[in-house]
Amino acid sequence: MTQKIQAIRGMNDVLPDESARWQYLEQAVRDVLDQYGYQEMRMPLVEQSALFCRSIGEVTDIVEKEMYSWQDRGTDKKAGDLLSLRPEGTASCARAVIEHGLAFNQQQRVWYQGPMFRRERPQKGRYRQFHQVGVEVFGIDGPDVDAELILLSARLWKRLGIEGLRLELNSLGTAESRAAYRQQLVDYFSQHLEQLDEDSKRRLQSNPLRILDSKNPALADVIAAAPSLPDSLDDTSKEHFASLCATLDDAGIEYELNPRLVRGLDYYSRTVFEWKTDQLGAQDAVCSGGRYDGLVEQLGGRATSAIGFAMGMERLLALMPEDRERQQAPQIYLVAAGESAQQYGVITAERLRDEGFRVQANAGGGSFKAQFKRADKSGAAIALVIGHQEAENQTVMIKDLRQHSDQIECSQADLVETLLQRLQP
Ligand code: HAM
Repeated sequence: MTQKIQAIRGMNDVLPDESARWQYLEQAVRDVLDQYGYQEMRMPLVEQSALFCRSIGEVTDIVEKEMYSWQDRGTDKKAGDLLSLRPEGTASCARAVIEHGLAFNQQQRVWYQGPMFRRERPQKGRYRQFHQVGVEVFGIDGPDVDAELILLSARLWKRLGIEGLRLELNSLGTAESRAAYRQQLVDYFSQHLEQLDEDSKRRLQSNPLRILDSKNPALADVIAAAPSLPDSLDDTSKEHFASLCATLDDAGIEYELNPRLVRGLDYYSRTVFEWKTDQLGAQDAVCSGGRYDGLVEQLGGRATSAIGFAMGMERLLALMPEDRERQQAPQIYLVAAGESAQQYGVITAERLRDEGFRVQANAGGGSFKAQFKRADKSGAAIALVIGHQEAENQTVMIKDLRQHSDQIECSQADLVETLLQRLQP
C-alpha cells in the first residue's frame, strides 16, 4: 500500500468546523484595531536570515535552535542567500517600515497577522507553525502609547469574552542602564558559577539577562537572589514607567510588577509586558511585547522609537468561550430531484443569492429523504423543494425546517418577499 503523507509535526490544519472560530477572532481583532486607528500590513513569510539574527539576537533560543533556515539557490557567480521562515513579525515589520520610509517624519500604527515558524518541541498551545496578531507603533516615544497598547489588548479580551488574564509589567531601562545591569548580573552569576547549568554558563558572557528566564528549577534559588533590575533603572525610564502605571491605574487595569520579566528576544528596552493565563499549562503567555526603541536604527533606519506586542492566536482560541463563531449557517437549503428540477434549482438559487440570501444547494442528486436529512444538518431555516412539477410551473415549494409545518407553493414573483417574511427572526 502507498504510504500516506501526513502534515509535519507541530503544523496543523484548520478544519472546516474550526474555521468559524478563527473568523470570529480575526473579525474581532480587525474591529478593535480599527477603533484605535491601526492599519494592516502584510509582509512576506521568508526573509534574509540576517534580519532575525541582528534583531532577535544571535544568542536566543529562536535564532540558535528554532529557525527554519536554508541556503537559496545561487547562480554560477554568487552563492545563494541564507533565508529563513519568519519566527516572528516585529523584525519583518521594522524592515518594511525602513525600506518604505514609513516612519519618516510621521507616526505609524500598524498591525499584521499570519503564520510564524519556530522549531520548538510541540505540545498543547505550542506549535511549529503558529499564528500571531502583531501590533506595532513607530515614532511615538511617550508612555501614553504604551498604555494605549495595553488598553487595546484589554478591550480585545472583553470583546472575545476571555476572562482571568493577568498582566505582568516590567521596565528594562535604556540601553545604557541595561548594560550596567548586565554587568551586575555577570559579576553575580560568576560568583555562583557552580550553581549554573550548562545553558546558563554559556549565556553568562553573551546574554546573562536570559539566565533570569531559565525554567530549570535547580536555578530558582540563585536567580531569586540575583540583583534586581528596577534598582539599576535610569531616571528617565523610571519616570516613563511610573507614568504608564499611573495611566493604567486611572483606567482600572490591574497589573503585577515582575522584575524578572526580561522577554526572550534581545531588541527590547524600557517597558515590557505579558498577559498570562493559568488555563494553558506551561504555555501561559497569551500576548507579549514591549518597547524596542533601538531596533530601527540597529537595522539601518534612522533612530525611531517603537513599541508593540504579539498575541498567539491558537492560545486565544483555546481561551475563547465555546459559542464564539462567525460563520453563519445557510438560510435556505435547496432540495431538487430530477434533471429539469436540478437545472431550474441552480437558476433559482443564483437568483436568491443575487438578492443577498445565503443558499446552499443540494448538488449531486439523491432521494428527497436523503436531501431533507442534509437540509436539516445544514442548519438552514427553510428548504425550497423543487420537483418536476415545480420546474414545469415555474414555482417552488417552501418548507419551514424549524416549525416542520406543511409545505406551501410559491410563485417566482412572490418568492423573495415570502422568504424575507419567513426568515425574520
Ligand atoms: P513572543 O513572546 O516570542 O514575542 O511571541 C508572542 C506570542 O506568540 C506569545 O505570547 C505566544 O502567545 C505566541 N507564541 C509564541 N510562540 C508560540 C508557539 N510556538 N506556539 C504558539 N504560540 C506561540 C514576539 O514574537 C514579538 N515579536 C512580540 C512583539 C511585537 N514585541 C514587540 N512587538
